[in-house]
Amino acid sequence: MTNNNPIGLFDSGIGGTSIWKEIHNLLPNENTIYLADSKNAPYGQKSKEEIIQLSYKNTEFLLNQNCKLIVVACNTATTNAIKELRDKYDIPFIGIEPAIKPAATNSQTQKIGILATKGTLNSELFYKNVEKFQDIKIIEQIGFGLVELIENGKINSAEMQDLLKQYLNPMIAQNIDYLVLGCSHYPFLIPKIKKIIPKNIKIIDSGQAVARQTKNILNEKVGNRTLSDKSTQIFYTNTNPKVLSNILKNDYTVIQKDF
Ligand code: DGL
Repeated sequence: MTNNNPIGLFDSGIGGTSIWKEIHNLLPNENTIYLADSKNAPYGQKSKEEIIQLSYKNTEFLLNQNCKLIVVACNTATTNAIKELRDKYDIPFIGIEPAIKPAATNSQTQKIGILATKGTLNSELFYKNVEKFQDIKIIEQIGFGLVELIENGKINSAEMQDLLKQYLNPMIAQNIDYLVLGCSHYPFLIPKIKKIIPKNIKIIDSGQAVARQTKNILNEKVGNRTLSDKSTQIFYTNTNPKVLSNILKNDYTVIQKDF
């Protein structure tokens, strides 16, 4: 039976724990294995082919751990590699994409902002998504440098504050009323972003939607864990485990492993 096997998640680093957290909140009885490929972060500046190869590598690690379902907890990997992953492996994949739709359909000013990596904003999947909303002005901004600072534990640095102001102020000036966070690292910046943007601008990220989708796929296709002993949450990183441990508030053990 596979229904008692773990859910696997991977990201270029610690960012996807924002997705893991939503999944664990919604599905606390599931075992999970999270892979932080921090050694290869950021993915956002890499070519599509490189992102595909790294996604294969991460997937194979998780398949060796008998995962029953894989959540690609990274917008950049989803928008560049999810099709290739689904073609190659016989296991359900759930991806994460910038939540343009709820922002575009609810915007009063008809202007929304999106902050994401270069890899996501330049992808065909993102282009196809955006194309559906011709009446909305979508202000795209690449978050150069943000992932690197987060990976280095510098969320609260002056450098972070300066970059965020530089990226958000032009969107504010153009009167956006929604800001879409199109990178799973960025939810960790929400407290900082809130200090910069006016209160009327709503921030949207995709974490809860991915968790709901995971729940649906388990119910419909894969099956839920039926054992009643406490679930296990395992975290792997291929760099210094300190930053990942800190982001998890030291509640979980992080295993350092070369993969
Ligand atoms: N967390 C990732 C995302 O959602 C990738 C960031 C990066 O490695 O550039 O896009």
